[in-house]
Amino acid sequence: SSSSPKPTLLPPTPENIRRCIRRLEEGGIVALPTETVYGLASTLTPSAKKIFTLKSRPLTSPLIVHVSSLSQSLPYINCPPPVLSTFTSLTTKFWPGPLTVILPSSPLVPSYINAGTKTVALRCPNNDLTLEILKERPLCMPSANKYGHISPTSSEHVMSEFEEDDVWVLEGGEGEVGIESTVVKVGEGGIELLRPGRITATEIRECLSSSSSPSLPVTSYVPQILSPTSSSNGSPGQNLKHYSPNLPCYIIKDVSSVSSDSVYITREDAGGKWNIIVGKERGEWERKLYGALREAENIQGAKRIFIEEVPHSEEYDGVRDRVFRAAEGKYYP
Ligand code: TXA
Ligand code: MG
Repeated sequence: SSSSPKPTLLPPTPENIRRCIRRLEEGGIVALPTETVYGLASTLTPSAKKIFTLKSRPLTSPLIVHVSSLSQSLPYINCPPPVLSTFTSLTTKFWPGPLTVILPSSPLVPSYINAGTKTVALRCPNNDLTLEILKERPLCMPSANKYGHISPTSSEHVMSEFEEDDVWVLEGGEGEVGIESTVVKVGEGGIELLRPGRITATEIRECLSSSSSPSLPVTSYVPQILSPTSSSNGSPGQNLKHYSPNLPCYIIKDVSSVSSDSVYITREDAGGKWNIIVGKERGEWERKLYGALREAENIQGAKRIFIEEVPHSEEYDGVRDRVFRAAEGKYYP
């Protein structure tokens, strides 16, 4: 009899951590927890190409290289002193944590990882299990979801995403942040915020103004809606249809237009039939949004998803961006 491949969930025992390291070094793929979302990891070898196949991700979308420290990242970059100084200030303040920094790459970064961009995205995640695995060597790791679908914030999400694939998933609970890291690109001319997240442009400015690094201007996040084929800044996470659930999804300003055959993702209980409460605080919104979207798309009989409009202030940029993309920019009515 033939049996189809299945994912395997591994409790975080010392023995299982060793098994994950061995599997990675043999060219295998392991899903690992982080404080943002789970990632699909491989070593910086041609085995990284398996990640693109598993995710159905286009090879033009580069992968973030995850490290356990600033010093471990240095061989992979090649940048002028002021850029290095800015990178050092940022990582001293925000690593381990939800900040990804894009810099010019050294020849050690293969083109199947940076998609030929001559840059490298670096991040040190704040999760003890994953940091222990990273201590041995860096790993490239995109979010552990199929391309364009919702990022996973629990091991259960990863298991359901890859239910027909031979993927190992290291159990690490739910992350404290819940949306993907803030992505910044650092150059001699300044710092560009490419993907908003828990860490805001204001926090980045504050960090740099209180450090000894040169005062480079920080450009706030500007939503750029790109078609799937275009790429003005080389960050394909900017595609409009991204983080999308499998039901039509709309942003809604007026609760009274929520219909009874729809799920409503909201900050406070609005008394409807299928309300999913994500909580009032910005941090709760971030932490619970992706779980709420998955819960919503699995409700039998639901025809669509409405999501409460997110406030238009900078600290909400991250969650507003994810909601906007989940809804593919659509408002209701
Ligand atoms: O929080 C996170 O960053 C998670 C966890 C697993 O660490 N990872 C993650 O990876 O979100 P991914 O691949 O799903 O999103 C990375 C984003 C993509 O939009 C990608 O295009 C962009 O970062 N990116 C990666 N390397 C880049 C590069 N060299 N230049 C420009 N953009 C890059
Ligand atoms: Mg992703």
